[in-house]
Amino acid sequence: MTYNLLKGKTGIIFGALNPLSIAWNVAEKAHEEGARFVLTNTPVALRFGETHLLAEKTGSPVIPADATSLKDMEHLVKSTMDHFGGQFDFALHSIGMSLNVRKDRPYDDLDYDYYQKTIDISALSFHKLIQTCKQMDAVKEWGSIVALSYIAAQRTLFRYNDMADAKAALESIARSFGYIYGREKKVRINTISQSPTMTTAGSGVKGINDLFDFTERMSPLGNASADECAHYVITLFSDLTRKVTMQNLFHDGGFSSMGMSERAMHMYSRSLNIDDDCCQNMKDERDKNF
Ligand SMILES: NC(=O)c1ccc[n+]([C@@H]2O[C@H](COP(=O)([O-])OP(=O)(O)OC[C@H]3O[C@@H](n4cnc5c(N)ncnc54)[C@H](O)[C@@H]3O)[C@@H](O)[C@H]2O)c1
Repeated sequence: MTYNLLKGKTGIIFGALNPLSIAWNVAEKAHEEGARFVLTNTPVALRFGETHLLAEKTGSPVIPADATSLKDMEHLVKSTMDHFGGQFDFALHSIGMSLNVRKDRPYDDLDYDYYQKTIDISALSFHKLIQTCKQMDAVKEWGSIVALSYIAAQRTLFRYNDMADAKAALESIARSFGYIYGREKKVRINTISQSPTMTTAGSGVKGINDLFDFTERMSPLGNASADECAHYVITLFSDLTRKVTMQNLFHDGGFSSMGMSERAMHMYSRSLNIDDDCCQNMKDERDKNF
């Protein structure tokens, strides 16, 4: 079902690599809701990914930009303004990458060149986007800028590694800049903290399948999909959320408020080697229900 929530709105969407990407799902929904937008990604991602198919489907121009390059960012924002004939309404930052994660470097043996790249790509690029937009006065009043985050910004999750530091910085940038941009231009800035999702970036985290299963069992509503995340992003781009800013919004089926669930406890108990009769009886009883 569509609601025309973004009728007449324009924007930029970063990070749609393939149909699994969260940004791809956002672009499809934004198109259905009446928005027009520019798609962008790195030149390499545009060469190897499928962004051109999304561009055809949504009638969007594609402008290459490495989000770590201020020059590329300025060119992108200026070209977007030229394309739409002035200011635009929204921007989605859906970018993340860690070579330490990819190459399985543990947090106590990080490669610092990789670490800097992680922060540059996954967090500073958000600041560069917002600062460029503000300096060019590119975003309309009550416009909305959203980035994708993960709960590792607040809690330690095995193997998320230096991306946790990047996400903590990303969320802080949303608050620090949200104050300034809101006060001066009434532009909203928020992050959405999304469930583990089976995307290209998500699959780079070793053990994602087990993590996915764990969070599914822990969350009363189950993991949120990329498609569901896209719906939430659309509400933040719409006029229905005009006074929401500087927030990190959990979109995770309730995971962030849980400590232990019955379904997760069940799996944990099963993994223990329980041979005591009493416990075995309890275990048999529980097994009937799962
Ligand atoms: N997949 C998950 O489990 C999950 C969970 C929570 C948050 N997120 C976040 O969602 C966002 C999108 O990731 P995704 O899961 O859709 O994966 P994805 O791999 O589809 O998207 C990541 C995108 O980042 C782009 N990118 C990398 N370096 C870049 C650069 N220098 N300049 C511009 N773009 C660059 C990639 O080309 C790719 O399109 C990321 O911020 C990610 O951390 C993902």
